[in-house]
Amino acid sequence: IEDQYKILEFKDFGDERGNLVVVEGNADIPFDLKRVFYIYGSDPDVVRGMHANRKTEFVLINVGGTSKVKVDNGFETVVVELNRPRMGIYLPTMVWKEMYDFSEDSILLVLASEHYDSKEYIRDYSDFLKEVGGVHE
Ligand code: TYD
Repeated sequence: IEDQYKILEFKDFGDERGNLVVVEGNADIPFDLKRVFYIYGSDPDVVRGMHANRKTEFVLINVGGTSKVKVDNGFETVVVELNRPRMGIYLPTMVWKEMYDFSEDSILLVLASEHYDSKEYIRDYSDFLKEVGGVHE
């Protein structure tokens, strides 16, 4: 799984006026983004995501607060804490993802490579495992 997701560190054009972080499609992230959404106000005991995507690649950034993301390719999982506005995680297609442990001030910014299409989501874990030929229960 280490060769599937990627931890990104964005440039900061900060100066005495504050910080400014830039994320450019096809440059700082490995796709041309078509969609942005953000998640905030999720309680710490909530688990979001719980799906895989056939077509969409994502980059997740906690622009405020912290959260964790669990990435699962059907064989291995990794948990990454998103805890800095300059840090991103790139997620390819066909990985199962779960976001949780949201801090009260968490603002999770998500950049997506495709427009929203509910049909490209796999929301059943056993369907996901079947498609990737995975082994987890
Ligand atoms: P959901 O996929 O459950 O969010 P998450 O994966 O972040 O936990 O989406 C919640 C609702 O919002 C669902 O009804 C679909 C809708 N939605 C859109 O219409 N467009 C989007 O880009 C996203 C991410 C969700």
